[in-house]
Amino acid sequence: MAARRISSLLSRSLSSSLPFSVRPKGYSTAAALENPIIPNVEIKHTQLLINGEFVDAASGKTFPTYDPRTGEVIAHVAEGDAQDINLAVAAARKAFDEGPWPKMTAYERARIILRFADLVEQHSEELAALETWNNGKTFQQASKAELPMFVRKFHYYAGWADKIHGLTVPADGPYHVQTLHEPIGVAGQIIPWNFPLIMFAWKVGPALACGNTIVLKTAEQTPLTALYVGKLFHEAGLPPGVLNIVSGYGPSAGAALASHMDVDKIAFTGSTETGKTVLELAAKSNLKPATLELGGKSPFIVCEDADVDKAVELAHFALFFNQGQCCCAGSRTYVHESVYDEFVEKATQRAKRRTVGDPFKSGIEQGPQIDTEQFQKVLRYLKSGMESNAKLECGGDRLGSKGFFIQPTVFSNVQDDMLIAQDEIFGPVQSILKFKDLDEVIQRANTTKYGLAAGVFTQNLNTANTLSRALRAGTVWVNCFDVFDAAIPFGGYKMSGIGREKSVYSLNNYLQVKAVVTPLKNPAWL
Ligand code: NAI
Ligand code: MG
Repeated sequence: MAARRISSLLSRSLSSSLPFSVRPKGYSTAAALENPIIPNVEIKHTQLLINGEFVDAASGKTFPTYDPRTGEVIAHVAEGDAQDINLAVAAARKAFDEGPWPKMTAYERARIILRFADLVEQHSEELAALETWNNGKTFQQASKAELPMFVRKFHYYAGWADKIHGLTVPADGPYHVQTLHEPIGVAGQIIPWNFPLIMFAWKVGPALACGNTIVLKTAEQTPLTALYVGKLFHEAGLPPGVLNIVSGYGPSAGAALASHMDVDKIAFTGSTETGKTVLELAAKSNLKPATLELGGKSPFIVCEDADVDKAVELAHFALFFNQGQCCCAGSRTYVHESVYDEFVEKATQRAKRRTVGDPFKSGIEQGPQIDTEQFQKVLRYLKSGMESNAKLECGGDRLGSKGFFIQPTVFSNVQDDMLIAQDEIFGPVQSILKFKDLDEVIQRANTTKYGLAAGVFTQNLNTANTLSRALRAGTVWVNCFDVFDAAIPFGGYKMSGIGREKSVYSLNNYLQVKAVVTPLKNPAWL
């Protein structure tokens, strides 16, 4: 009965599109912040997952993980460092060199991945609650969008497992030439805290489908759900050592993984600054290839033909989704001068209506920021915006006195050279800029060190075509935003990263191509 209820919930949410929600009647922010809902979730796994077993850190150390609604400790988690990374890499190495995983048929690997996806589906409500508790994202978003998306990603990659193969190549001469697409070996993966489960899926899915083994370093803010699903993967039949999960901090555990001589590939999502460090560590150690998915300052361009109400709603979603903690957030809202005043007025009204509060409560659109560091960072940008010539339309401060809640904020009259228009704020802060014509907005939208994504809002096909080709970004969403199907590639131009995740393109990150050349008949020298 429960399983049926969950699966119907999942299939409903897969067919629904953008998670726009409305303020519930009679909701009081203050009351919800004072009395946070206590989720009914038992925290079972807090140790490191190495070689199929939960173990303490070699140092015996633990670190606290917090509830961002209150700043209170949820649990203490084993703190992995270089010693634990060494143990995890040794396990992954052995599982790759001697274990069954790379040698079993691709179909068998796919079956294990599918069994895992089924188990996640069965536990999805508990996992969504744990994700909300540890991250602060709304339960609605975690349960109805992210868990189904997580499951879908693994279905997608299970589908690839037995379709990965090389080519036969016509060479000049009497040779039979074939390419073998082999797993690259031990993959090191470092993920951030904004989408703990989704980032797990983007990294682990393709690596396993290709037959690699993994050491995953989760973000120090959000270690809990990865350990939970790590356990489910082993229940599904994953051999020991194939997926090792080390919780811990970046400069200790993360750096040890990026610089490890026995790690064959590193994949990272996070800040551009740390991405550069990871690339440097990879280069200085064994020249392992790196995939980097980094920061962004994505333009969202509202053209003169826009239906303003719809443009306001989509631009609002593009920025405020997930508390504004998205690498691809539409954080520069460029609006054509002919609709600018109306847009600013309505965008402000929309932000004022945004429901902020306990993310477990239904109807809530915005929970707390992840931690005190990110919270303080956003507050600094609010101050910077207020000190500039930008006009504060609403918000501009924290909300309440507990936890890491920030008022939905809108600045208008933002200029390109202001800090709030240049830096990744990673918070619920919308910056609205005015433009006159397409050439101008193309040039301004591209004048950034980033190039992750862009949004375009227009009914005019020529405008859509012109903008989508001219914008230097890895994704251009036209009249939509944050569409994240497994089959759609994602990644950045410029300092937003190197390589593409999801989709068929992601498989290349986890494969070696070997050319095998054999004479067709005995040559003269034999
Ligand atoms: P970060 O890039 O420092 O952390 C991301 C991951 O890298 C975490 O697992 C962390 O432990 C690890 N890490 C940190 N230092 C490392 C090192 N020296 N070697 C190896 N791994 C290391 O991001 P942080 O500090 O959490 O947030 C800072 C800013 O980064 C945010 O305000 C936001 O602007 C951006 N960010 C972007 C994300 C994205 O999705 N592209 C996700 C998270 C943050
Ligand atoms: Mg950092």
